[in-house]
Amino acid sequence: MIAKLYGVGRVLKGKLCVPGDKSISHRAIMFSSLVKGKTVVEGFLPSEDCLSTMDIFQKLGVSIEREGTKLTIEGKGMEALEAPAGSLYCGNSGTTMRLMAGILSGQTFSSVLFGDESLEKRPMGRVLSPLSKMGAKISAEGEKCTAPLKIEGSALKGICYESPISSAQVKSAVLLASLYAKGETVYTEPSLSRDHTERLLSAMGADIETRILKDGKAEIHLRPGKDLHPIPGIFSVPGDISSAAYFMAACFFLPGSEVLLESVGLNESRSGILDVLSNMGAKFQILNKKTIGGEERGDVLLTYGKLRGTEIAGALIPRLIDELPVLAILATIAEGETVIKNAEELKVKESNRIRAVVENLTSLGIPCVETEDGMRISGQDGIFPLKGKRIPSFKDHRIAMSFAVLGLLCSKESPMEIEDAECISISYPGFFKDLEKLLDGNPEVC
Ligand code: S3P
Repeated sequence: MIAKLYGVGRVLKGKLCVPGDKSISHRAIMFSSLVKGKTVVEGFLPSEDCLSTMDIFQKLGVSIEREGTKLTIEGKGMEALEAPAGSLYCGNSGTTMRLMAGILSGQTFSSVLFGDESLEKRPMGRVLSPLSKMGAKISAEGEKCTAPLKIEGSALKGICYESPISSAQVKSAVLLASLYAKGETVYTEPSLSRDHTERLLSAMGADIETRILKDGKAEIHLRPGKDLHPIPGIFSVPGDISSAAYFMAACFFLPGSEVLLESVGLNESRSGILDVLSNMGAKFQILNKKTIGGEERGDVLLTYGKLRGTEIAGALIPRLIDELPVLAILATIAEGETVIKNAEELKVKESNRIRAVVENLTSLGIPCVETEDGMRISGQDGIFPLKGKRIPSFKDHRIAMSFAVLGLLCSKESPMEIEDAECISISYPGFFKDLEKLLDGNPEVC
């Protein structure tokens, strides 16, 4: 599918409830499936990635019923997953494959995880290495330590592991495996990555503790053996700040725009985009802040204004890793240069996101440079209207949605055309509909 986008002469106005958080939706299924008892999840994200996780747990014998964004999960307990009849398909989802590798390593049966073309190119050594140290019998059947992953369930032991990267997928794989292990696991990462796993495990009764060390490293201690229980009451998933990010950025592309994004997850380990917006001089307010089930959420009200370039680097990177493509797009209209550093992880996402952004911006005539660990973008006040072009999405949902936002600089006569735009369904199936509604000034999109 080719999506055509334009915004000249339009404004973005109204309020929007962005769909549920992808990371938390995956974890809602996984964690609720592992404990004995019923969990009701509200605000689940029914995107392709999360449906891959749901399908896998159904194949492992867990009863999960879905009505729209509501799930009813009947967990049977940590030891009660059943051997699957065949290989387990993770689709495009790195979170599914890496977290499942942790869970399946501690089972008493064998399993195989495979994925689509993109997922089978992504590095799996990062999970194989710590899991093998725990005693997991896991091998990567692909050429470069890539999927399919073959896992023979085995007895595991706790480890002390210092990860070279801040990755919540690796951390979660190890923490999930450590639930099945003998002895404590201590996991250290260079700076705290998203901590939904730790918050959820703690809310379910696990003996888990996070220490932030003087040098900024995060050290997580998990002592297994506690009986975990389902999340009490309703498991309510907040809106995904990574999906909200496209509208946060879009608001600054069209003069006169004002958008209220409701019930957005504001967990500190995910909200780096708000720090960057502040540094760029963006006008926004957080309203109705509250904490539900250990996760903060609130409404974000954004008003159009001019922005300045900034630097995005260091410990900020894991707090906004998925928002970097759209922040790079936002940098194109900010005064001065924006520099993104320490973001080499972008090269191993659903596409090489540094290359994808730089190639597309360059082909549109916007000055930017690819660097070893990021990119530099020169903001252009005068690129409005932008002459649209047909550009690839690299079949990467975040690249497709980021360039849709840039398309708002184009006129109806010369729109931005994005190839393979159906890939947005990986994380945000209703994205184009929501964008169109806000562009027409619809006051209610919830
Ligand atoms: C995720 C962690 C991040 C993020 C991904 C979701 C998760 O990946 O980019 O979209 O749910 O744990 P890494 O752990 O590879 O940084």
